Amino acid sequence: MSRHLLQIEGMYPPAIAEMLDLAESYVLLNRSGKTQRDLLRGRTLINLFFEDSTRTRTSFELAGKRLGADVINMSVASSSVNKGETLLDTAATLNAMHCDLLVIRHGESGAPALLAQKVDASVINAGDGTHEHPTQALLDALTIRRRKGRLEGLTIAICGDVLHSRVARSNIHLLTTLGSRVRVVGPPTLIPTEAARLGVEVFHDMREGLQGADIVMMLRLQKERMTRGLVPSAREFFRFYGLDAEKLAYAKPDALVMHPGPMNRGVEIASAVADDPVRSLIREQVEMGVAVRMAVLDILARRNRPNV
Ligand code: NCD
Repeated sequence: MSRHLLQIEGMYPPAIAEMLDLAESYVLLNRSGKTQRDLLRGRTLINLFFEDSTRTRTSFELAGKRLGADVINMSVASSSVNKGETLLDTAATLNAMHCDLLVIRHGESGAPALLAQKVDASVINAGDGTHEHPTQALLDALTIRRRKGRLEGLTIAICGDVLHSRVARSNIHLLTTLGSRVRVVGPPTLIPTEAARLGVEVFHDMREGLQGADIVMMLRLQKERMTRGLVPSAREFFRFYGLDAEKLAYAKPDALVMHPGPMNRGVEIASAVADDPVRSLIREQVEMGVAVRMAVLDILARRNRPNV
């Protein structure tokens, strides 16, 4: 068992289930208002964010505090210095500080893995470039499992900017590993060429892709990662690929809607769908995020001996 959580790819079902099951118990604990502040007492968690984040960073912070860890937030402004060099300097600093758990978000795919080789702490990838965002996939899986009772056999449509989405990549690995039928839906310019190799079905038409789906997972159009014009205009994108009530009607009558946030309302999703109290799981995803991160911190801290 690894003391790091760098990616979902390669994880076995029992390891994923262990995290989901423990997270489930943390949902109940959080709802009951009880705390477990002894669990990580004396342990230090550093949040190292090289990219912006609202929910992921605060969610890790809250999770760490609920388990009694000392939590430090380091926001590192992006600079033009050579990324590799900066990271290795940072690793030396973190080792000197005897940090136990290191949560890192970075614009470069593979940065957390590089850091993991250089630090004594357990490293948790909170999103690296377009590679993976493992805790997001775990919280999405927990959200689905709690609502649908299972993941196996469900048809899950992941829609929109799949190309730039680390959320999509982690979800594809996790959901296919646990037996869901995964589809990706989007314009050809936003679907990665390796999609078919990942064991998913590819659709370029929303109505066809949503047909019979149990879960419709929308993704943010990641303009900041687009180096060339991959979509005509936000208005045009919404017309063809934005989720509104009319397109959602093609999915199963009890299909549920998800989005990792932050949302571009009126671009990939209509407000009426995002805020629909019956169909939308978006708020629940945020709640599950705290429980999943508590479970991950708890499990990794147990795997990594305390620093002395
Ligand atoms: C995602 C991310 O940063 O990868 N956000 C998140 O963590 N909830 C998705 C996104 O930025 O669109």
